[in-house]
Amino acid sequence: VISSDTTWGAGDYPLMARHLEPAAVAAVQAAEAGPADRVLDVAAGTGNAALLAAQRRSRVVGIDFEPTLLRLAEQRSRDAGSSVHWAQGDVGALPVRGRWADVVLSVFGVMYASGHAGAVRELARVAAPGARIVLASWIPGGVIPAMGRVVSGYLPPPPPPTGPPSTWGDEQALEELLIAGGLRLAASSTQGLTIEFADSAAAADFLIRTAGHLVNEQERLTASGRWQELHDDLIAFVERRAEVAHDQLRLRLQYLLATATAGGAPSR
Ligand SMILES: C[S@@+](CC[C@H](N)C(=O)[O-])C[C@H]1O[C@@H](n2cnc3c(N)ncnc32)[C@H](O)[C@@H]1O
Repeated sequence: VISSDTTWGAGDYPLMARHLEPAAVAAVQAAEAGPADRVLDVAAGTGNAALLAAQRRSRVVGIDFEPTLLRLAEQRSRDAGSSVHWAQGDVGALPVRGRWADVVLSVFGVMYASGHAGAVRELARVAAPGARIVLASWIPGGVIPAMGRVVSGYLPPPPPPTGPPSTWGDEQALEELLIAGGLRLAASSTQGLTIEFADSAAAADFLIRTAGHLVNEQERLTASGRWQELHDDLIAFVERRAEVAHDQLRLRLQYLLATATAGGAPSR
């Protein structure tokens, strides 16, 4: 049994990661990662973005604080024959030397930092002069942040946050965060990815199964008779948010794809 250190390792996040891969493709393309680049994938999870950068022959380091996901990432890079270096670490104190990275990627990753300002300072610290920093973050009110509001009533209160994760998906708020940390927002656009389900119950099952912080609460909520209620609330949520197309339910997940730059001369 592989134990997880965080709730990210408790559910079937790898299943979610397979559906989120289009965002990693978009981030790696936006960063134009190439053979001359040292690429850092921050909060790499199962390694979607890191592996794509390695395919483009960049030198890649992937960092995450969840060992269960890092092990899967390692296995994926071995299977692909790529030489990504994986390291356990927190986005608030990245185990990387200053100015190392020509490209910093974080796909739905750094947005979950417990301290937003400190995380931006870390991105700025590891970025080489002129580095491209590409971040994908759920936009406020989008499916994932809205689902967070539905389930919050079932969860223990979170530690006092520095702001909701979707702050990173709000262009203006992100720009302010970046400036405060010494970075500049160079470009941003709203993007989306679509996940299809047979019906709303299947969608609710997927949203629960892939969310470790919900899976971890199953026993407690079942004992208090609230697990079924949570499931039903998520079915109603999916029915409000999904489109029906060709007998399938489609959930469109919108995110902000942002490119920031570090000061100084371009690194290439
Ligand atoms: C939504 S997943 C995204 C993973 C991956 N980037 C992807 O595209 O699939 C969020 C990731 O952030 C990691 N994470 C969250 N907070 C973190 C922190 N403070 N330090 C390091 N990793 C963190 C989790 O372990 C998880 O792998």
